[in-house]
Amino acid sequence: MSAIILGIESSCDDTSAAVIKDDVILSNVVANQDVHKAYGGVVPELASRAHQQNIIPVVEKAIKDAGVSRNDINAVAFTRGPGLMGSLLVGTSFAKGFALANNLPLIEVNHLHAHVMAHFIKENEHDTNQPSFPFLCLLVSGGNSQIIVVRDQLHMEIIGQTIDDAAGEAFDKCAKIIGLPYPGGPLIDKMAREGNAEAFKFNKPKIKDYNYSFSGLKTSVLYFLRDELKKNPEFIEENKADICASLQKTIIDILMDKVIKAAKDTGIKQVALAGGVSANSGLRDRLTQLAQEKGWKTFIPKFSYTTDNAAMIAINGYYKYLKQDFVGQEVAPFARTEF
Ligand code: KG4
Repeated sequence: MSAIILGIESSCDDTSAAVIKDDVILSNVVANQDVHKAYGGVVPELASRAHQQNIIPVVEKAIKDAGVSRNDINAVAFTRGPGLMGSLLVGTSFAKGFALANNLPLIEVNHLHAHVMAHFIKENEHDTNQPSFPFLCLLVSGGNSQIIVVRDQLHMEIIGQTIDDAAGEAFDKCAKIIGLPYPGGPLIDKMAREGNAEAFKFNKPKIKDYNYSFSGLKTSVLYFLRDELKKNPEFIEENKADICASLQKTIIDILMDKVIKAAKDTGIKQVALAGGVSANSGLRDRLTQLAQEKGWKTFIPKFSYTTDNAAMIAINGYYKYLKQDFVGQEVAPFARTEF
């Protein structure tokens, strides 16, 4: 069944709309919100106000860039959750209004499933570099860190997740302690390239099964720097690259130790990354190195599909469209709960 799907994403601080024809992307427009920079993190109230300003121009541009008209669209897929309630409300309300006005079916999408589904977005019909089933996906973003067994496009089993902070949060919070602006993850990545990853040792948590914990790392970095700064007030300035490299290596070790265990226990040899932190060059290098060592086939999505985007919502929507899996106008966003 062929279909053109409009995808809408507004779970956090990026307003995005995309148009997909079957599994081939036609457009993907993202409006970032600079307004949060001054606050060192996303301010929910400001995020929902910015979504309100952005949503109509972003959707109009996505439809225009796709070279289609409103009448060509077969369904509207939107992020129902998880995310910030005020932000989700804007995208959900818009999607409902658009569907009602144009007499289209509505498709709810779980934001986390969509991150995984980013692997199935095709740039063109000849694009075949996609994982086959089952595969393991390490989903690492600002809000989540999960290991998922992906059974097919719509069936995913979370076998491990963080019990406190997400990996992206660990990057951002440690960056803040070092004095780097928000979001600190990409800055740590950049500085780490110049540093010695063995220079400093930070404790790794001992957590059961495939679960993660990152809150202890943040405290360990805080205490370590506090003690060093007492001895040398210039410690951070003089050792910034080494601190970043050591910290990044610790986060990657924590993440990949559990992925190695999951791959061994399940016997699955295809491993994919998803979410904003998969942009990290150290993590990408480690995955490539592990692929050689362990004989894994690995998959890393294009950068624009790793951070929050509506292309991943649209592709998820397409697979649900094939099953005619629609929701009614009574649908409401979910901030946390799985649905
Ligand atoms: O998936 P995403 O765009 O959205 C949220 O879940 O909010 O992920 C954003 C997260 C932030 O924590 C950011 O610092 C992190 O991804 N991030 C990185 C890199 N690029 C983005 N962390 C480490 N290295 C990077 N290169």
